[in-house]
This record gives sequence, C-alpha cells and structure tokens, in this order.
Amino acid sequence: MAKTICVFTNKGGTGKTTTVTNIGYVFASQGAKVLLVDLDPQSSLSKFFLGSEAVHDLHRSQTVAALFDDTCEPTLKDLVHPTAFDNLFLTPASEHLKKHNHPEPHKLGQLQFSLQDFVAEASEHFDFVILDCPPDVSNMPTWASLLAVQFAVSPILPERFSMQAIAGVDKQLAAAREVNNRLTFLGYFLSQRRSRISLHDAIEDNLRGLQRDRVFDTVVPQTIAISEAQQMGKPITNYDNSTPAAKVTVQLAAELLGRIANISQQRRAA
Ligand SMILES: Nc1ncnc2c1ncn2[C@@H]1O[C@H](COP(=O)(O)OP(=O)(O)O)[C@@H](O)[C@H]1O
Ligand SMILES: [Mg+2]
Repeated sequence: MAKTICVFTNKGGTGKTTTVTNIGYVFASQGAKVLLVDLDPQSSLSKFFLGSEAVHDLHRSQTVAALFDDTCEPTLKDLVHPTAFDNLFLTPASEHLKKHNHPEPHKLGQLQFSLQDFVAEASEHFDFVILDCPPDVSNMPTWASLLAVQFAVSPILPERFSMQAIAGVDKQLAAAREVNNRLTFLGYFLSQRRSRISLHDAIEDNLRGLQRDRVFDTVVPQTIAISEAQQMGKPITNYDNSTPAAKVTVQLAAELLGRIANISQQRRAA
C-alpha cells in the first residue's frame, strides 16, 4: 500500500513542483516505485519530465483531466507514463485540466471525489503516490487531492505573503478533514531560505514560535544547484549528489518519512 502525499499551498513559486520532482526521485533511487501526479494546469512537472511539446500533444484521455471528465473512463495504464528515470512514473497534466479548475468544488457532489479511486488503485501498484497541486487551495484540483490522500505537506517561503498563506492552508485542511478523516498534515517546511539574511532568520524564528512541531527541521536553501539541475532536466540528486542542496533534499525526504512513521506509531498506540 502506497504512502499518498499531496504537496500544496495557496501561493505560487514556493517550490511545490521542485519538491515533488526532487523527493520523488530520492524515493525512486532508493528503490521505491513512485508515481508523481501533476494537478496543475500549468503542467510544469509534466513538462519537466516529458518535455513541453509532448505535453502539448497529449490527448486529454492520457492526462489527469480525464479523471474529472464524465465522458472519459481512463484506466491506470492510460494515465501512468514512464519517465527517463527508473522507478519514477508520471500522471501528467496539460491545458485540458483548465476547464476543471472549478472555484467551488465542494458544491459539485461526486465530482470532488474524482481522484479518490485513481489514487486508491495506484496505491496498490506503487510505494509512493505524490500529488503536485496548483497554487490555489480552494479550487478543484487541490480540493480533490486533499480528499484523496493520507498526507499533506506545505512549502513556505520566508517572506510575508507566504506566511500569510498559512491561514488559508489551515482552513482548507480543516475543511478537507471533515470529509477525509484519514488526512494528516505532516507540516510546513521552509523553502528557498537564504543564509545570512537577518529577515529570513527573523521569519524562521517567528514561524517556529507560532507553528512549533508543525515546522520541519529541514530547511531547503535557495541554491543555484537546484536551478541548474532543473535547467538540465534532472532531479538534484541525479544532477550532482555531492551538493549541499542534494543532501538537504535527502534529509527532507527522510524527515517526511520519519513524520509519517511517527503518525502511524501514534495511531497504533491510540
Ligand atoms: N531551493 C531552491 N533554490 C533555488 N531555486 C528554487 C528552489 N526551489 C524552487 N526554486 C525555483 O523557484 C521557482 C518556483 O519553483 P516551483 O517548484 O515551480 O514552485 P511552485 O511549484 O510552488 O510554483 C522555479 O523557477 C524553481 O527553479
Ligand atoms: Mg508548481
């Protein structure tokens, strides 16, 4: 049975797609079978792995949009595409997803559960199913993701607007938990933090003071190595495993697993 994880927040540019790419590859390179699911109509994750032209040419029935479309009946095989990396598979998004970007998904009856059966079926074939959400917590792709997974995690930038997104993230988590009682929030992690910037130090202190153990110990620094790896079409640990950014990524993946293990232990003890 897979661990199903959604990476989400209310803001763009916080590192959701970068995180999904990099930790997905870490798990895959450790021998796990990993499915990454792109829920963002901008399709950055899909373009990273398949290339822009290939994504543009995908028929809707080969993309995640098919799961929101009553006229399609996709099988797992239709929606699971190989990547250039061993053990790492992708369910792509494309612009076909745009028309399913409903702003009030909780009013759409069964449609809001569009991802549940797919994630459940994928769970039987993979060790990890990781969902990359668009930068809006209330629209259909994120809402349907929160209703379909066991775990959620949220990257946060050390800046005011990103901190302000916390209230919206917490509100949506609470709403989703009313419907999906298996959903557990693993926490916030700081992304693109710069060292020797006193503003970032102050924001980190503030975040940890307010959110305490809801904040990951691991902090992802802003580093050129991560951008370079992306430019080369490679996950960071594949591009250069000796960089500090690669080590932090492995650490982040390990902390995520540790948090999942703690939760499972607490549940068994309860
Ligand atoms: N740790 C990092 N260091 C440097 N650049 C980063 C880092 N994380 C993300 N980026 C860059 O920031 C931009 C936004 O990241 P992305 O993962 O697309 O965010 P999101 O999916 O949340 O919109 C991208 O250009 C990416 O290369
Ligand atoms: Mg993204």
